[in-house]
Amino acid sequence: MEITRLISEATAAAVSRRDPGAVPGWTGRVKWPVTCTVGPGLEGAIACETKIGYIDGAQGSMLYQGYDIYDLCTHSNFEEVCYLLLYGKLPTESQMAAFDAKLKEARYLSDTLRLLDNFPVEDMHPMASLRLATTFMRYRLTWRDSAAARPRPDEAIASDEDSIPMETKPRGESRAIYEFRRQRLLRPANAGSTRDDAASMESCIHLISGLATLTAAISRLRQGKMPLEPDPDLSHAANFLYMMSGRRPTPEEERVMDVCLILHADHGMNASTFAAMVVASTLSDIYLSIGSGIAALSGPLHGGANEEVLHLLREIGTCKAVPAWFAKATEEKRKIPGFGHRVYKTYDPRAVVLSPLAEHLVARNKEVRPLFRVARALEKRVVATLGKNKGIYPNVDYYSGLIYSCMGIPVEMFTPIFAVSRVAGWTARVMEYLGNNRIFRPRSIYIGEHGKEFVPAKDRDA
Ligand SMILES: CC(C)(COP(=O)(O)OP(=O)(O)OC[C@H]1O[C@@H](n2cnc3c(N)ncnc32)[C@H](O)[C@@H]1OP(=O)(O)O)[C@@H](O)C(=O)NCCC(=O)NCCS
Repeated sequence: MEITRLISEATAAAVSRRDPGAVPGWTGRVKWPVTCTVGPGLEGAIACETKIGYIDGAQGSMLYQGYDIYDLCTHSNFEEVCYLLLYGKLPTESQMAAFDAKLKEARYLSDTLRLLDNFPVEDMHPMASLRLATTFMRYRLTWRDSAAARPRPDEAIASDEDSIPMETKPRGESRAIYEFRRQRLLRPANAGSTRDDAASMESCIHLISGLATLTAAISRLRQGKMPLEPDPDLSHAANFLYMMSGRRPTPEEERVMDVCLILHADHGMNASTFAAMVVASTLSDIYLSIGSGIAALSGPLHGGANEEVLHLLREIGTCKAVPAWFAKATEEKRKIPGFGHRVYKTYDPRAVVLSPLAEHLVARNKEVRPLFRVARALEKRVVATLGKNKGIYPNVDYYSGLIYSCMGIPVEMFTPIFAVSRVAGWTARVMEYLGNNRIFRPRSIYIGEHGKEFVPAKDRDA
């Protein structure tokens, strides 16, 4: 297929630029406690050991469980990559079939969608809706719904989803509702003491499938449309596109979305992964942990950058306007969305794959083509100046938004799509970390005063 050929060509060229003699840094076991140089924002800090993913910022390479991301984009698919991240190895055919069946089953979230539909989804940012929806998903599979916490049928005689527990002591049937809810909050004796209480593979699969269903439903609700039932005959990527648009995607659209999902699935100890891990390390549960990941991803310095890129390209408008815009942005010390990275000081390997795919798609898309031309012109400028001086190159967010635009996806859904993929890395890293858990607890340096005298309000200076 054309898409695979484009990926192979782009990645072969990028691999040929790598230094074959370079020794990868930050690998191998460390002896705890470790000595390292830490900058603000924990830059350079080592928080844990992992086998899940590796990034070589100097060489522009990226691995999932030892496999080069370029090979995975060329030969694999998102479902297989999820298995790889969660279980640490590529699945056999029968393992894959069983995993795929579970993923497909977990696509159905009618209860969660019913709860979500009670909220003004059309007025909320979709990341806020997604965050909320994962909290609703939670009540299905956490210990609160385990056998120990489930109500006895005689107590749940009139459970009505719309009833609200009262402050006053309820009577009759409503008393049963009250007890039903109270019963669900009983904490089993072993809660918090086992890794399974905080996360389980079922919950990871539930979240990986579920975030796609929820994102698609949120997109439709925002447009005043009803959510769609999943199609079990479609792959994860194709079903996601179908559930968003109501149209079965072409093989090319399916393949491009699949590659986007593979590329965004994991990326080291980025802010959202770290946020998810911090919450999980308290032995909170995986749904709350992933919710924190979603919250962290929503910011413009992280996942939100792909939305910012599209706004920026529209703001610049034409290729002719690029030099003047860039000169002003440099003068104002503006950080240009879609460029730069804490780890990469060369081309982000994900941008290496996405750039030719965007170019391929815009060739047939008159609306997005002018924006792509602006993007190319700006890239040339930035790379020629900031690339050499500061190691600033396009990152993953620079071309992903243009690709989604070619597929007719609204800008505000770009960051949720990031979450649809990154949930694989979040869940895998949380599971791995919980295997050898230690609660996260960095320190801050106090730079305030000591021993200040407390002054009563009436005596304080204005
Ligand atoms: C991703 C990002 C937060 C990394 O930040 P960081 O590692 O803390 O890098 P710094 O902010 O320390 O930047 C180092 C230098 O490069 C410059 N720089 C970094 N990103 C830049 C950008 N996107 N545009 C212009 N200059 C940039 C900084 O101004 C700084 O210059 P200085 O040394 O003269 O002060 C940052 O590059 C950024 O804000 N990029 C835009 C948002 C984005 O695309 N995010 C998605 C990342 S996948």
